Amino acid sequence: MDSLDTPRMYGDLAPWWPLLSPPEDYAEEAAMVAGLVRAAAPGARTLLELGSGGGHNAVHLRTAYEMTLVDLSPGMLEVSRRLNPGAEHVEGDMRTVRLGLTFDAVLVHDALDYLLTAEDVAALLATAVAHLRPGGVLVLVPDHVRETFEEDTEHGGTDAADGSGIRYLAWTYDPDPDDDSVVTQFAYLVRTADGRVASSAETHRCGLFGQQQWLGWLTGAGFEASALVGQTDEDRPGRTVFVGVLSAGEAADQG
Ligand SMILES: C[S@@+](CC[C@H](N)C(=O)[O-])C[C@H]1O[C@@H](n2cnc3c(N)ncnc32)[C@H](O)[C@@H]1O
Repeated sequence: MDSLDTPRMYGDLAPWWPLLSPPEDYAEEAAMVAGLVRAAAPGARTLLELGSGGGHNAVHLRTAYEMTLVDLSPGMLEVSRRLNPGAEHVEGDMRTVRLGLTFDAVLVHDALDYLLTAEDVAALLATAVAHLRPGGVLVLVPDHVRETFEEDTEHGGTDAADGSGIRYLAWTYDPDPDDDSVVTQFAYLVRTADGRVASSAETHRCGLFGQQQWLGWLTGAGFEASALVGQTDEDRPGRTVFVGVLSAGEAADQG
């Protein structure tokens, strides 16, 4: 995703994010991430999230970590600033941003979907290496990996107290199994507080890579890497989660 072709979801619809995908839906996965960070880097205090969106992971992680949140979308950062006023917010691209700081942990959650090529992933991993201390931990939570990808249709959205609300339908499928991407077609219904309803739709193209590809990329970038399946009570298969611990040599090379 380039800043020039920001999806409506993260553009003019960004203020609706808390109703579209409420913060409480992120509690379980955020707890899983915190558990993985604790296990891999006990004592971790600082966490950088790349592609942090509306801060719906951060709201659950901020009691345990000092959070720095990077996202491409000014509108999503604005939503996150309201929810997480104590966190540091930075507008930037996860492939290129350089803060000149190191952290105990780096998290990239569903924003990983927008990395479409091996070059995008390599650039993200270079960003992670540049921002981790030796022995720091990287947690990657892509929505899908190739081995377990299934076509899916889901819907959601909620209402605000003033009578406004939003609903979405998301239809994800793989038009060309020979390439490294899938598409999600989104349809939105937005109701403003005066009762008027407007509809719109858009397509998101998302990367789809295999588990061994992810592990190979992580190892190549200097991480001791592993994969696990994160189980939640949600009505969907557990997501494959990648954990990388940065070797001391790699961190020193970058420093
Ligand atoms: C599904 S939303 C993330 C929601 C987030 N998990 C939360 O807790 O609210 C995906 C986000 O990825 C961001 N994004 C996409 N490509 C990016 C990139 N190259 N660098 C930084 N952010 C990116 C979008 O702006 C969007 O806010």
